[in-house]
Amino acid sequence: MKIGIVGSGAMGSGIAQVAASAGHEVLIFDSNPLAIEKARDALQGVLNKLAAKGKMDDATAKAIFGRLRWVENLSDLAEAGLIIEAIVEDLGVKKELFQQLSRIVSPEAILATNTSSLSVTAIAAASKDPSRVLGLHFFNPAPLMALVEVVPALQTNMAHVEWAKKLMQDWGKIPVIAKDTPGFIVNRVARPFYGEALRIYEEGIANVATIDWAMTEIGGFRMGPFTLMDFIGNDVNYAVTESVFQAFYYDPRYKPSFTQKKLVEAGWLGKKTGKGYYDYSPKADNPEPLQDESLGRTIFERILVMLINEAADALFLGVATRDDLELAMTRGVNYPKGLLRWADDWGIENCVAKMDLLYEEYLEDRYRCSPLLRRMADSSLHFFN
Ligand code: NAI
Repeated sequence: MKIGIVGSGAMGSGIAQVAASAGHEVLIFDSNPLAIEKARDALQGVLNKLAAKGKMDDATAKAIFGRLRWVENLSDLAEAGLIIEAIVEDLGVKKELFQQLSRIVSPEAILATNTSSLSVTAIAAASKDPSRVLGLHFFNPAPLMALVEVVPALQTNMAHVEWAKKLMQDWGKIPVIAKDTPGFIVNRVARPFYGEALRIYEEGIANVATIDWAMTEIGGFRMGPFTLMDFIGNDVNYAVTESVFQAFYYDPRYKPSFTQKKLVEAGWLGKKTGKGYYDYSPKADNPEPLQDESLGRTIFERILVMLINEAADALFLGVATRDDLELAMTRGVNYPKGLLRWADDWGIENCVAKMDLLYEEYLEDRYRCSPLLRRMADSSLHFFN
């Protein structure tokens, strides 16, 4: 089966590499010829480097590159059995593309979108046969990140979802099935990692270095929230938060932070601009963490219980299964432990008590406890045995 890719930017070229490495001939189209040129050079460079480092032999690298075909017209994708769209994140533009694609491809082809924030259902509605459209949400960089969220639209035939899931496994990926709701799994469940850290900082409870220290040293996370936001880019992280907030009809749980907005306005986007929450210049004078064990535990527990609450609520609302939620957070964003497993280890009653304490203190809807956690605590249930 030939794979079509539309959009040869960061995601499209990464997905093309994954598909070609799995043995498919890959047809890549981009409306900007310069983007194609850039992607071709970049992929050649990546494959050369992999060969030079001994991660694959020269012949394999050449064969993978040889399976990439750079096409000039969208109609050249006609032979593809699966087309993955990774163009600009704009619903109108994506809908137009799906309309065009569904006129070009065979009636058996599957059309997938890599959108991270738009409705797969709305995109599917633009195509001739919405039952053959689904979301395949890869993470950046696609060749390195194992997780793929497979997202059925309301109209998708579930047989195609199973097919796509199996294909992703064949590509060496870890697919999870996510309901077509804002942020799918990862971009929804991970929001408090950033949002609650920002809130703690804004309240003056601790500086960014102390919050990062608490999450890495006490919590065991690979990166603290502020280091991670600087790494992702504050513009990118803010845009995701804002779009999830809007998509949830302004649920206060997802409210963006002014602190982050100001950083974006200042152009302090993080590592890529040399300054974000931290200063990345050689002689920078960055804040030191206050390594106070008790303060650190308070910070870690407040952020973690908000994450657990979000994961439990996602399960409650049928966004994903228990096991897919755990897989997504451990394999997608490398959390040290699945959040539901963590809830069991802490004790569900303890999680409910912590959420209620926050709610009683602030009286904000942001701190409402998921009904699932409360019901489980009342019946002494666990997520796992
Ligand atoms: P990008 O800006 O690097 O690349 C987009 C490419 O699409 C550009 O080369 C552009 O010329 C091309 N393009 C734009 N409109 C087009 C059209 N109508 N027809 C054909 N080509 C067109 O963007 P990136 O980061 O690769 O993102 C692509 C998609 O993947 C977006 O939907 C984004 O939300 C999603 N995504 C991005 C992630 C990321 O971390 N960058 C992670 C997961 C999903």
